[in-house]
Amino acid sequence: MIGKTVLITGSNGLLAYDLIRVFSFFSGEKNYNFIRSNHADFDIVNEKAVKKFVDFHKPDIIINTAALVKVDECELNPGKAFETNAIGALNVAKAAKDIGALNVYIGTNYVFDGGKKSYSEDDAPNPVNIYGASKLAGEALTKIAGGDYYIIRTSWLYGIHRKDSVFVSQVLESAKKGEAIKVVDNQFGTPTYTLDLARKIKELVDKKAPSGVYHITNSGFCSWYGFAEKILELRGARAELVAIKLKERCLISKKPANSILINGNIKKIGIEELRPWNEALKDYIKEAYGD
Ligand SMILES: NC(=O)c1ccc[n+]([C@@H]2O[C@H](COP(=O)([O-])OP(=O)(O)OC[C@H]3O[C@@H](n4cnc5c(N)ncnc54)[C@H](OP(=O)(O)O)[C@@H]3O)[C@@H](O)[C@H]2O)c1
Repeated sequence: MIGKTVLITGSNGLLAYDLIRVFSFFSGEKNYNFIRSNHADFDIVNEKAVKKFVDFHKPDIIINTAALVKVDECELNPGKAFETNAIGALNVAKAAKDIGALNVYIGTNYVFDGGKKSYSEDDAPNPVNIYGASKLAGEALTKIAGGDYYIIRTSWLYGIHRKDSVFVSQVLESAKKGEAIKVVDNQFGTPTYTLDLARKIKELVDKKAPSGVYHITNSGFCSWYGFAEKILELRGARAELVAIKLKERCLISKKPANSILINGNIKKIGIEELRPWNEALKDYIKEAYGD
């Protein structure tokens, strides 16, 4: 095989779909081969199974997207959340270290408590829910494993894969049915297009960036209300938006009110920030809805 080999875990997931597109030979990429692995290939919680798969394929880079990402599900199943997001991360990191591969762990803005308006890589995490705590533990264990690593924290992902499950399509579907849409107007973050994120991850890998924590999101920020307004505007759709407060949406788990990530560390190594979230959304809507 020519080029470096990238193993992508959680390959049936939202972000993995665009990582595969970006690292694919078929998209013109000649410097990388990729191997996908999903839950059926191995469970990241099973240390031996992870090691066996990794030792067999000997990738140069592992991008670990496998995770339990549903915040309320994590709150209700803390054991499973920590097993997947923390122990699973450790298993992948150790297997990567053993063969000298770079390990890329995908982290989250939910490691922060939302008390500040925005967060740099130097701010101290303080998660307010089990999901955030389990992902923070995953970060710590990724570092403890001792190999080369990137911890990439991102936020509010949407993408083409399983597009019906993301917020964009939920808004458009409700609009189509003429239903009023309840959206939170006091939680702020940055919607991030998985294709933009995947390209930036590749840039980091191409550049052989040093090990460390990197915040990568589209730029700018909005509330869920603002996000919904922009989705409707770009699609030329109309719907009644009903503003609700975050606490009305926090029946099972708490969520940080602000979790805007300052993308400082990529800039320090000469990588440009991602484009504004509304420009990315415009392209996404064109790609997903065909006009
Ligand atoms: N989505 C967001 O808004 C968001 C925001 C910030 C950060 N992130 C982070 O970004 C990463 C990717 O998120 P995503 O939205 O692409 O997730 P996703 O679509 O839910 O994909 C995650 C994948 O992980 C697999 N998986 C779960 N448990 C596993 C296990 N024990 N062993 C092997 N595979 C397992 C799942 O497969 P099965 O379905 O077959 O179990 C699924 O295909 C995650 O680390 C997440 O924490 C996401």
